[in-house]
Amino acid sequence: MASSSRSRLMLQLQSSPRLMLRLSPFLAIPSPSSSLSFSSNFRVSSSAQPTLQQPYPRSSEIVALEYADLNLSYNLDLGHVRIRQHVNPLSSSFSVPAQVPDWNQVFADPTLPLMVDIGCGSGRFLMWLAKRTPKERNFLGLEIRQRIVKRAEIWAKDLALNNIHFLFANATISFKQLVESYPGPLVLVSILCPDPHFKKRHHKRRVLQKPLVGAIVDNLMLGGQVFVQSDVLQVALDMRNQFDEVEALKHLDVSNPAILCDSEGWLLSNPMGIRTEREIHAELEGAKIFRRLIAQVIVQAMYKVGKIR
Ligand SMILES: C[S@@+](CC[C@H](N)C(=O)[O-])C[C@H]1O[C@@H](n2cnc3c(N)ncnc32)[C@H](O)[C@@H]1O
Repeated sequence: MASSSRSRLMLQLQSSPRLMLRLSPFLAIPSPSSSLSFSSNFRVSSSAQPTLQQPYPRSSEIVALEYADLNLSYNLDLGHVRIRQHVNPLSSSFSVPAQVPDWNQVFADPTLPLMVDIGCGSGRFLMWLAKRTPKERNFLGLEIRQRIVKRAEIWAKDLALNNIHFLFANATISFKQLVESYPGPLVLVSILCPDPHFKKRHHKRRVLQKPLVGAIVDNLMLGGQVFVQSDVLQVALDMRNQFDEVEALKHLDVSNPAILCDSEGWLLSNPMGIRTEREIHAELEGAKIFRRLIAQVIVQAMYKVGKIR
């Protein structure tokens, strides 16, 4: 857990000794029974009380605690349709490119450097970042499950943030035209714990495919970064190998003393200051997170798309 995240969580916990008692096993050791479920009716509160029926919090509650300072409402009326756990991005219903928004409508200043989070899930990770840099950076979350995009939009509106936008999009096919149309520089792209699609015949469903790598490289500003991570080694290796093949990109490692890696070249910690939802779930289960931070070192097609002024 990043130290700032831990301190926030600890502050929450200190305000409720009973909650601390309830959560303490999770802070020290991996949970044998954490679940990926998200209860849309759960409301985060430092007065959450342990019950005899539920001696340990669900990992979704721990996720909500990590994002507690966003003060989000978990009592949203999203209708009665279930949020699907997985979709097949190759199905024809996801083959239509997302409409490019009017950037002047979605961001207060559409010339700010842009971070794009591909497969942003609930969007809370991105909201946390957007709240911290309201005047320095814009944030775009791309997500293929429409209902969680709807929830993210409601949350972002509640937070009155004008530097964040969520789009229902199949990133594999929509990323390129979205970032090419953005008026400012693309400074950071993240792909965090993407769906693993374990079976070999399903690897083509993984979000990072060659054309997406190309679109990222072509649009990233000089010095811009790509941050990828997964709790599944094969998925992390797949992303790592695809970016390692690109001459214009360099993994940031020991050459930068602020970024430490293990002997296999994986970052020792999350450089973003906040963990993603899947990362929290995975770490609760004791999983290692395999991370790479890669920088654009050669000016690419930004000339072509007129992004260099
Ligand atoms: C395992 S979740 C991880 C979410 C978040 N990044 C995190 O670390 O908590 C992967 C997310 O990617 C989304 N996703 C999968 N394929 C996608 C695609 N082609 N385009 C956009 N989002 C996609 C899924 O719907 C899901 O929300």
